[in-house]
Amino acid sequence: MNITFSKPGFPKVSALLVPVPSGRKLSGIAAEWDKKSGGAIAKAAKAADFSGDSGQSVEVLAPQGFTADRILLFGIGDPAKVGEKEARSLGGRITARLSSLGVKTAAVAAEPPAKVKLPAEDFAAAVAEGVLLRSYRFDVYRTKASKGKKPSLEKLTVMTDALPKARSRWAARRSVTEGVFFARDLVSEPANVLYPKEFATRAKSLTKLGVKVEVLGEKQMERLGMGSLLGVGRGSQHESQLVVMQWLGASNKKAQPVAFIGKGVTFDTGGISLKPSAGMGEMKYDMGGAGTVTGLMHALAGRKAKANVIGIIGLVENMPDGTAQRPGDVVTSMSGQTIEVLNTDAEGRLVLADALWYCQNRFKPKFMIDLATLTGAIIISLGTHKAGLFASNDELADRLFETGNKVDETVWRLPLEDTYDRTINSQIADMQNISDGRGAGSITAAQFLQRFTNKVPWAHLDIAGTAWTKADKPLCPKGATGFGVRLLDRLVSDYYEGR
Ligand code: BES
Ligand code: MN
Ligand code: ZN
Repeated sequence: MNITFSKPGFPKVSALLVPVPSGRKLSGIAAEWDKKSGGAIAKAAKAADFSGDSGQSVEVLAPQGFTADRILLFGIGDPAKVGEKEARSLGGRITARLSSLGVKTAAVAAEPPAKVKLPAEDFAAAVAEGVLLRSYRFDVYRTKASKGKKPSLEKLTVMTDALPKARSRWAARRSVTEGVFFARDLVSEPANVLYPKEFATRAKSLTKLGVKVEVLGEKQMERLGMGSLLGVGRGSQHESQLVVMQWLGASNKKAQPVAFIGKGVTFDTGGISLKPSAGMGEMKYDMGGAGTVTGLMHALAGRKAKANVIGIIGLVENMPDGTAQRPGDVVTSMSGQTIEVLNTDAEGRLVLADALWYCQNRFKPKFMIDLATLTGAIIISLGTHKAGLFASNDELADRLFETGNKVDETVWRLPLEDTYDRTINSQIADMQNISDGRGAGSITAAQFLQRFTNKVPWAHLDIAGTAWTKADKPLCPKGATGFGVRLLDRLVSDYYEGR
């Protein structure tokens, strides 16, 4: 989709889009459009019993004198409450509405209505961001284009007086959206196409953006002693990989970096502790954490973030086979700690254990944040709206919480405590990969990870419920969401850049 910014006017497009606050007071170019229509816009809004409440929309056929065929009004509610979030979701609604109408070219009156506190340039950029985020499609395997479903919008003109600031805000947001789309593409790919080596190849494509990418194969990981990660991949025909990405955008390339680590199980059958067949196909998204970390690196490099950032992803396929690890096996992790693998389906933590240890050992980062589709239990706790947050550091946890609210990728903190930690002590090894009790599955998984952080400030996001959606969301059609790319990009830009 082609999105351009211009000064307000009377553009030659097939639809004009007007955000309307509650009270229906039109301002800026929207008021001028209304004037030119002889008050038809205001009248139509009134006649249709349209209050301007958020979620409402009304369509008016454009009167004589307009090149556009139609004018669409979108309610945005109380203007005093309109912030970035509301502007972005307005964009999402625009895409959804225009798709169902088959509109190809449109212009949006993106000046914030009176009483909106958000600066004009941010309002305009956020609307554009919402439009683009919702327009995502994964079409690689469709041989017959189904026209009805395809977002029809080809060209959007965003009308704002706040040029050139809005354009520069948009340039950054567009880069971040490209990172989100990169993550969604990875997660959408089926597991027969996207196995560990193929994933690593796609990560290598970030080199063209200036990201340094290294790929470690099984030989190298063996030498490093990564018995925990390697055990998971033993049943697979595909070689496990560890990908290390570095974006060094700070003025001092040696300044202490921040680090993100992703679970990349390209398919999770459960291994010998085989999962039931119903719904197992969804387990192609078990590399969602790695998808987000890779998309994040894309976003940061795309907008040339002034920060040093490490991205590490552990890529394995969890399959049952004569060579697969068995329940009861004991493996030795890179940290030296031994693990009794009582359930081969609790494999994500085994992958992350070595990835986290490697990360802190090599890079000594300011903090580590890992992302993983780690437990079904987090879906029971939080559903598909919030990711589970666990942290050893309150400041990091608070920043993640606040930032999640800003970008509408929200997280909710759950506890870590010795009482939970004890439940993964093993009879014969340093720990076991599942707890003895039944409850608190997401917490005990997090406790397991914490044992590999070596006291580096750390947070863990359990994204099992948020990496994938079965229904359309305001900013994402059903399927892969790319959850976390916008959250972590914003965390970096708000707290760790240029200082
Ligand atoms: N990949 C799954 C978790 C998952 C479940 C992600 C549903 C997305 C949707 C993970 O590897 C897993 O199998 N976890 C087990 C842990 C259990 C064996 C302790 C689970 O959640 O059942
Ligand atoms: Mn599993
Ligand atoms: Zn898994």
